[in-house]
Amino acid sequence: MTKRLWIETVGCQMNVLDSELVVAALRRQGWELATASSEADAVFYNTCSVRQHAEDKIYSALGRIRQEKLRRPELVIGVIGCMAQKDQLLVRSRAPWVDLVVGPGQLHQIPTLVADVLAGGGPRLEVSLDRKAGSRDAVTLSFESYDPDRDPTMRPTPFQALVRTQTGCDKFCAFCVVPHVRGPEQARSVASIVAETQKLVAEGCLEITLIGQTVNSYRWNEGGKMLRLSDLLEQLNSVDGLERIKFVTNYPRDMTDDLIAAVRDLPKVCPYLHVPAQHGCDAVLSRMKRGYTIGEYMEMLHRVRESLPHAAVTSDFIVGFCGETDAEFTRSLDLVRSANFKNSYIFKYSPRPGTKAFERQIDDVPEAVKRGRNQMLLDAQTVVSLAGNQPFIGTRQQVLVEGLSAREEKNGGLPSVDGQAQLMGRTPCDRIVVFHAPLRLIGRLVDVDITATAAWSLVGVVADGLAEAKLLDELPSPASASALYAIALPTRTPTGAARA
Ligand code: SAH
Ligand code: F3S
Repeated sequence: MTKRLWIETVGCQMNVLDSELVVAALRRQGWELATASSEADAVFYNTCSVRQHAEDKIYSALGRIRQEKLRRPELVIGVIGCMAQKDQLLVRSRAPWVDLVVGPGQLHQIPTLVADVLAGGGPRLEVSLDRKAGSRDAVTLSFESYDPDRDPTMRPTPFQALVRTQTGCDKFCAFCVVPHVRGPEQARSVASIVAETQKLVAEGCLEITLIGQTVNSYRWNEGGKMLRLSDLLEQLNSVDGLERIKFVTNYPRDMTDDLIAAVRDLPKVCPYLHVPAQHGCDAVLSRMKRGYTIGEYMEMLHRVRESLPHAAVTSDFIVGFCGETDAEFTRSLDLVRSANFKNSYIFKYSPRPGTKAFERQIDDVPEAVKRGRNQMLLDAQTVVSLAGNQPFIGTRQQVLVEGLSAREEKNGGLPSVDGQAQLMGRTPCDRIVVFHAPLRLIGRLVDVDITATAAWSLVGVVADGLAEAKLLDELPSPASASALYAIALPTRTPTGAARA
């Protein structure tokens, strides 16, 4: 009989992609997605370790699923991804009903591991080497890249795709667990990224988002020539049928002129740059081991603004990092007020075992102070974001329609009597646009006239709406976005509040 999988995903886009690939691998073995965890034969949690809160959420979910496991002992429970790599044996000592603990470097093993558990083989732990547990080569080898061929019938959204450029990270920012749980930086070849993109486009994909922890550090040695992200973008730009290329996340020091020029000169590359500053004060940046000063960050931003005056730049900030004084925090406020970020994701510092900050610095900013600073920085960013959206009123924007708006999702997503619903999509500069339109526009590029703005979104009407709707009525309808996303995905809000 067909087996059914339920998978919950928290964390970043790497996890979203990993979940897509794990689901595809199991579907290839005959599995289907369940509509609820109570109807599943296997329940997986694809986890995040970046902040304590993300781990707490998973341990509570594991507490809840325990009842189901008591009722149905044959249910396979899997903890996969970053928390599996970080906590390893601890997962099963806190939740002994877990059957599978699989790190991000071992995901390729999942189909075999699940079959073993189902055959009565008992619980399994598969993780990669700790960063200090061997030579760089040995550790690197233990984090196997996971980019199997994608099957078009198994893709959650046919018109958009995440494409990995590299795994891992070597920057070792003092607060960050990512280099420990995702291993050494390893690039994929230009040829394999281009080939994957061509295949995705042939299957109907219009937009790809390249993902890497520091995507702009991408390097690939091609017969003695070092190819960089700008070279990769140039090759991708000439893929026929592809409309948009985005890439995240950028490391400030690697925002080189060739990359800025590529964004300027290549029409398919979107003018959207996520370049986290993390903090506005040199002393804190130095304690964070970020490797740049605010002067250098501003110089980078200046180069970006000179060449790309219309680009949207976004940032991440951490508040309440070890030893952060009021005066130091004020520098982050200053940066938000002066840098004109489209939006910022703001996080309260969460100490992570294994990191340098955890080992050598004291988490001495009280929680209430962190909370207050988070709110202050968010308020400052909201003012900037509102003002930044204002000039869009009266303009026409090209929007890739992604699905129902958040409001409509909450209402259950049924179209109103006129067969229309509130939809959402994004501009090339990654601004969210909401508008009323027929569901069949999902997955298409449409022009939208902007009529109003909020801090985190624009509101508009489809240009020449009636003609468009009529024409599109004759086209086959792509599946609705909510049906496409049978996988539970993390919500992505510009405030960062809902990010794990
Ligand atoms: N390069 C990665 C960064 C991963 S972590 C990327 O693809 O975005 C995402 C963000 O979480 C970081 O930019 C940082 O702002 C925040 N973060 C990382 N470690 C944190 C910690 N220990 N506490 C609070 N926020 C953290
Ligand atoms: Fe983390 Fe810094 Fe890398 S934030 S992912 S260690 S660039």
